[in-house]
Amino acid sequence: MTPILEFSNVDAFYGKIHALQNVSFTVKEGEITALLGSNGAGKSTILKAISGLVQVRSGTIRFMGEVIHQKLPHDIVSQGIIQVPEGRRIFGSMTVLENLELGGFTQRKDHRFLKQTLELIFTLFPRLKERAKQKAGTLSGGEQQMVAIGRALMGKPKLLMLDEPSMGLAPIVVKDIMKIISQINQQGTTVLLVEQNARAALKLAHTGYVVETGEITLSGSTEQLSQDHNIIHAYLA
Ligand SMILES: Nc1ncnc2c1ncn2[C@@H]1O[C@H](COP(=O)(O)OP(=O)(O)O)[C@@H](O)[C@H]1O
Ligand SMILES: [Mg+2]
Repeated sequence: MTPILEFSNVDAFYGKIHALQNVSFTVKEGEITALLGSNGAGKSTILKAISGLVQVRSGTIRFMGEVIHQKLPHDIVSQGIIQVPEGRRIFGSMTVLENLELGGFTQRKDHRFLKQTLELIFTLFPRLKERAKQKAGTLSGGEQQMVAIGRALMGKPKLLMLDEPSMGLAPIVVKDIMKIISQINQQGTTVLLVEQNARAALKLAHTGYVVETGEITLSGSTEQLSQDHNIIHAYLA
């Protein structure tokens, strides 16, 4: 089966900084794929390249067989690639419900989908239901992450990309968030997960890639990676 996303030989720059060097990886439909690596490795840049927010100098990005790396960000979103950005970026002065509704903008004509998805979100995150009318800025970090994930679901993702969802959260909250990502995946959404928390990501994902200074240095099933000496030494010790 051809992968849902093919990221092939991509180079990207910020001015003179060579942020991605011949990076290639794939995401299989139905799986959770994790990009691991320390701060500054290039993980967010990979997601931004997919979303059309960072220009690709050379190489190709294909989604469902179609080349997407020359498209505009909003066209890429319309195709079903939806990103939960690093640091959540929800609208603090708007209510939880308003934030979620905003995520449904591209689906605004499909009232049925929006209604069903809102119900699904409130089932996945009962705390958000209780706090639907509360200003999102007053929520805890974990709850804000739930809003950010819920907002992405309202856009009907075929590929859900999460940039460090565990960042700044207490271990018990990280567990909750990871469990929910797994549930979303089990309901049929393909996930590309970026994490510095290698332990949590390797538990959750099917396939993993290690990014170091703009290059992919290791890849494999998460079972293989969890037993790899280099990974244990660098990321799990
Ligand atoms: N807007 C930017 N301008 C210049 N350099 C950037 C910018 N964003 C990221 N970088 C640099 O690109 C490299 C990769 O960054 P990033 O993709 O954010 O890493 P990660 O998400 O793995 O922490 C780093 O060296 C970082 O300093
Ligand atoms: Mg990052």
